[in-house]
Amino acid sequence: MSANAQPASHAVTAADFRAACGLFASGVTVVTRLLPDGGPYGMTVSSFTSVSLDPPLILVCIDRNARFLRDLLPDQAFAVNILSDQQQHIAAGFADRKEDDRFAGVAWSAGWEGVPLLGGVVVTFACSLQQNIPSGDHFILIGEVHQIRRHKGSPLVWCDRGYHFLPAVGRAEEEAEERRS
Ligand SMILES: Cc1cc2nc3c(=O)[nH]c(=O)nc-3n(C[C@H](O)[C@H](O)[C@H](O)COP(=O)(O)O)c2cc1C
Repeated sequence: MSANAQPASHAVTAADFRAACGLFASGVTVVTRLLPDGGPYGMTVSSFTSVSLDPPLILVCIDRNARFLRDLLPDQAFAVNILSDQQQHIAAGFADRKEDDRFAGVAWSAGWEGVPLLGGVVVTFACSLQQNIPSGDHFILIGEVHQIRRHKGSPLVWCDRGYHFLPAVGRAEEEAEERRS
């Protein structure tokens, strides 16, 4: 370290770190599960990543204070719903700490093991919890994927603290379908 250099822990402020990480564009998901009383719960999550192809594994990073983590079972069933570009209001609603009934007016159905699958999304992954790893102020949840549902539409994009929209996605698949019909 040079004479003027700051120790790493002083060089990175929380605000700088958040702003820098925010430039990594991602999709937006709502991660859902059933609560012990059988009711649906969901929260907006952008920290979704695929982990492994065989077996099929994904991860999400969840704030240690988030209600999602309450009463988690070892094999807890949960779903990752990738939002479409028509669902910005759903992303906002499921990130609102004051909103008690996030599912009001939101179409959903029960998937594998009863996990709530949101309507109008582009993809749902129904998973079982494989690992729950504490890391800093978050928990890394790794899930094995048991069910995938795909629907037409373009995904919503989150970058630099704002929502963004892609030109049409899935065109190649639609053109192949048109050629077949
Ligand atoms: C676009 C977006 C992405 C988010 N991504 C995450 C995330 O990856 N992990 C997380 O813990 N919270 C994330 N949040 C914040 C939670 O959605 C928010 O804190 C929510 O209120 C937590 O649910 P709870 O209030 O029921 O505990 C995100 C919020 C937004 C708007």
